[in-house]
Amino acid sequence: MGPLSAPPCTLHITWKELLLTVLLFIFWNPPTTAQVTIEAQPTKVSEGKDILLLVQNLPQNLTGYVWFKGQITNYHQFIIAYAIDSKNITVGPAYSGRETVYSNASLLIQNVTQKDTGSYTIEIIKQGDETKGVTGHFTLYAELPKPYITSNNFNPMENKNVVALTCEPKTEGYTYLWRVNGQSLPVSPRLKEPGKNRILILTNVIRNDTGPYECEIWDRVGSICSDPVTLDVLYGPDVPLVLPATTYYDSGTTLYLSCFADSNPPAEYSWTVNGKFLQSGSELSIPQITTEHSGIYRCAARNSATGRERYRFRRIKVLGKWIPASLSTVF
Ligand SMILES: *[C@@H]1O[C@H](CO)[C@@H](O)[C@H](O)[C@H]1NC(C)=O
Ligand SMILES: *[C@@H]1O[C@H](CO)[C@@H](O)[C@H](O)[C@H]1NC(C)=O
Ligand SMILES: *[C@@H]1O[C@H](CO)[C@@H](O)[C@H](O)[C@H]1NC(C)=O
Ligand SMILES: *[C@@H]1O[C@H](CO)[C@@H](O)[C@H](O)[C@H]1NC(C)=O
Ligand SMILES: *[C@@H]1O[C@H](CO)[C@@H](O)[C@H](O)[C@H]1NC(C)=O
Repeated sequence: MGPLSAPPCTLHITWKELLLTVLLFIFWNPPTTAQVTIEAQPTKVSEGKDILLLVQNLPQNLTGYVWFKGQITNYHQFIIAYAIDSKNITVGPAYSGRETVYSNASLLIQNVTQKDTGSYTIEIIKQGDETKGVTGHFTLYAELPKPYITSNNFNPMENKNVVALTCEPKTEGYTYLWRVNGQSLPVSPRLKEPGKNRILILTNVIRNDTGPYECEIWDRVGSICSDPVTLDVLYGPDVPLVLPATTYYDSGTTLYLSCFADSNPPAEYSWTVNGKFLQSGSELSIPQITTEHSGIYRCAARNSATGRERYRFRRIKVLGKWIPASLSTVF
């Protein structure tokens, strides 16, 4: 299973436990007897817990055992030794104070840490000073730290700012995966993903880049997702739309115009007629209009965050009341 088949972030696996695997390199394998093996118990252990390296199928008539850290049986790697006859336990330079050897040769390591990972070798001393080594190797996988996202700018301006989102912490051996609005990030030439996707660069941010971003880190055994962070792209206002598109109005009616421009944050609106300020607000309503209300109306939309202002003009012609000629003499 690779990152591409990743389940949604909500299904992430938190590896609270450190996985432990044991690979055995058997050096001593007399054909007539069962093979000596080292088995780790438990096979999964969390940091701070204990692990027992069980030695099985020990031969008879032994003098003692010596445990070494690593695969080389030199003095510097010497942890602990057990002499069977005297039950004498001797510790060496590689002893941390957390190891215990039992009379059956098994080694207990308490409160395991990352430093304990690696190989362990037991040297079995037979009567007549014949020695044979058996090596057990185990690897502890660290619990994945919960990642978090940092950014140079969480409120970039459209077509102006470059955004770099970084998934922290930086650690070798992780793969990084990004999600936007819960979807795996579409691969686009606009997105540069250097360094194993740890840094996501939006070179020319657009309003559609707005959304919750999550990053997920993967190692060989599992994954964990960050909390979402929201990228809020500031944009606009676009050129406003003024409705209705009517030009001619009858006098005595109400002139009603509404103005809208897409903008983040929302635009502030103001109206002028023939260059004279009328009012602020997106809606304009003038009852009982007369021919005096004819003119060039302008809606201005302004976004103080982007510092941009856009206008739309609308010519309005208010028609005078049509008075029939026969009645005109009456007035
Ligand atoms: C172990 O030692 C005893 C006594 O010294 C001997 O009788 C026996 O055969 C030995 N066993 C093995 C497996 O060498
Ligand atoms: C245990 O072994 C050490 C080192 O070989 C030795 O100095 C000590 O005397 C031994 N103790 C016993 C009780 O045999
Ligand atoms: C060796 O002794 C330890 C501690 O008493 C025990 O937990 C373990 O099961 C024993 N190992 C074997 C192979 O019997
Ligand atoms: C385990 O190791 C950690 C770090 O070295 C230490 O702080 C803690 O006290 C140890 N716990 C036990 C039970 O020994
Ligand atoms: C932005 O998203 C809208 C709605 O999802 C879509 O119609 C539009 O084409 C997108 N614009 C760009 C530049 O991707």
